[in-house]
Amino acid sequence: LHLDQEHRFAHTLRVAQMAEELAAAHDIDTAKARTAALLHDLARLYSNERLLRECAARAMPMDDFERAHPVVLHARLGAELARELFDVTDSEVLGAIAKHTLGAAEMSPLECVVFLADGLEPERAFPERAALASLAMRDLPAAMHATLRAHIGYLHTKGLTVAPQTAAALVRFGEAATGSTH
Ligand SMILES: [Fe+2]
Ligand SMILES: [Fe+2]
Repeated sequence: LHLDQEHRFAHTLRVAQMAEELAAAHDIDTAKARTAALLHDLARLYSNERLLRECAARAMPMDDFERAHPVVLHARLGAELARELFDVTDSEVLGAIAKHTLGAAEMSPLECVVFLADGLEPERAFPERAALASLAMRDLPAAMHATLRAHIGYLHTKGLTVAPQTAAALVRFGEAATGSTH
């Protein structure tokens, strides 16, 4: 567990660094980006049982995908913990934490910054990472579209299910980036 925590902390610092750079490049509040990034994985090391229990204790609604894949709940529970433990009240910061794993049909620029920083930080190892990270510095919606496509493509090759929130995000940014994809 100690190693897991060190690993998570190092990841968190890289996400914060990248989120600040992306925010600065796109005229987004860098302090909010940093705060959201530093708190985004607060609940990441919780067991599935604990995630389900803590979400139930807060009467958080849960969809079928989340029930089947409790690990994704660390994002929404993390936002709750940021509020409870760190007195974060900014809805943009809380939204960025809540949406960092699955994305959503509606995402603000700050939410995109944290989502992309989490997925594209330098130690993430997949072939398109560097190109996507540099695209993210230039064009957030295009980077969202391309990153979601890469992620969903990966899930398909592994035979894994795509969350409805992620599919909705792809539609949203597909439209934004290319006009219409269908
Ligand atoms: Fe996470
Ligand atoms: Fe993360």
